[in-house]
Amino acid sequence: MVKIGHIELPDFPLLLAPMEDVSDPPFRALCKEQGADVVYTEFVSSEGLIRNAAKSVMKLDIYEKERPVGIQIFGANMESMLQTIDIVEKSNPDIIDINFGCPVKKVVSKGAGAGILKDICLMEELTAEMVKRTNLPVTVKTRLGWDHDSIKIVEVAERLQDVGIKAISIHGRTRAQMYKGNADWKPIAAVKNNPRMHIPVFGNGDINTPERAVEMRDSYGLDGAMIGRASIGNPWFFKQVKHYFKTGEHLAPITIEERVEAARRHLQMSIDWKGEKLGVFETRRHYTNYFKGIPDFKPYRMKMVTSDHSKDVFDAFDEVLEKFSNYQFTH
Ligand SMILES: Cc1cc2nc3c(=O)[nH]c(=O)nc-3n(C[C@H](O)[C@H](O)[C@H](O)COP(=O)(O)O)c2cc1C
Repeated sequence: MVKIGHIELPDFPLLLAPMEDVSDPPFRALCKEQGADVVYTEFVSSEGLIRNAAKSVMKLDIYEKERPVGIQIFGANMESMLQTIDIVEKSNPDIIDINFGCPVKKVVSKGAGAGILKDICLMEELTAEMVKRTNLPVTVKTRLGWDHDSIKIVEVAERLQDVGIKAISIHGRTRAQMYKGNADWKPIAAVKNNPRMHIPVFGNGDINTPERAVEMRDSYGLDGAMIGRASIGNPWFFKQVKHYFKTGEHLAPITIEERVEAARRHLQMSIDWKGEKLGVFETRRHYTNYFKGIPDFKPYRMKMVTSDHSKDVFDAFDEVLEKFSNYQFTH
C-alpha cells in the first residue's frame, strides 16, 4: 500500500496530473470514475489568489466525489504562499501540492514553477514554512532540474522530504527541455533508490500506453505514475492501465456510445459548474480527442466547436451516435 500522509492508496496508484485548462472539476470527475486514484487541480496562482482574482478562486472548487484531491499552487514569494495555504485550506482539499515544475517563461521569470530549481535553498525554505503552516499533507511536483548540467534531483528530493513533504512527483525532463525529447525516468529511479527516501516517489512524463506504465512500475521501481496528456480525450486511460496491470491484456477499444456519453456528461457537468455560456465554450477543446480517428468527422466537429448553445452541441452528439454507430475504433 502507498500512503500520502494518512491517505491510503492502492499499490502503484495512478494520479491525474495537474493540467491548466484541462483538469477542471468535470474532467477530474470523469478521470476519477475511470480509475484515477488521486486527482489534482489546475495550478492556482498564489498572487492571484491573495488578490481574490476570479479565475484563481474558481480553481478552488472541489467536490466530494473526486476525493482524494490535491489543490496545486504556484508562487515564489514566502508571504503570498503562506497566505495562500490559509485560503486553500478553506476549500478542504486532501492534499496541497506545490508546483516547482512549470516551465512557462511568465512563471519562471518570477522565480516560481521550475524557476525555483535555480535556488534550491529558497525551494527548501519555502517548502519547510508551507509544511509548518498546515496540517494537510503537502506534496511537490517538479522536474529533474533546470537544465542538463544542473540535475540534482536526488539531493533536492531528499531535502524536501526532510522538511516534511509527504510525496514527490517528478516529471522526467528539465526546464530547458520544456516538452521536447523523451522523458528520462532513470534520474527518477535514482531518487527512489536513495536509501534515505521513505516518501512515495511518483514518476511522470510520457506514460501513454499501459505497457509504459508497467515499465515504470517494474523496471524503474517507482511508487506510482502521474498521467497527463494521455488522459486528455481519454479519461478511460486509467481503467485501461489498471486492466492491463491485472490481466496483461488490453481492454477492448472504447465504443462510440461510451465516447458520446463521456462528451455529453463532460458538457453537462461544465454547464452545471460554470453556466451555459462558459460551459459550452470551455468544453470545446476536448471533443477532437474524444472522437479522434473517425473519418469524415469534420462537419460534426465544426458543429460541436462553433455552436453557442448546448442544445446544438447535444444534437451533434445524437447525430454522431446515429451516423457512426458501426464505426470500429482501434484505440
Ligand atoms: C495542457 C497542459 C497543462 C499543464 N498544466 C500544468 C499545471 O497546471 N501544473 C503542473 O504541475 N503541470 C502542468 N502540466 C504538466 C503535466 O502535469 C505533466 O507534468 C506533463 O504533461 C508530463 O506528463 P505527460 O507526459 O503524462 O503529459 C501541464 C501539461 C499540459 C499538457
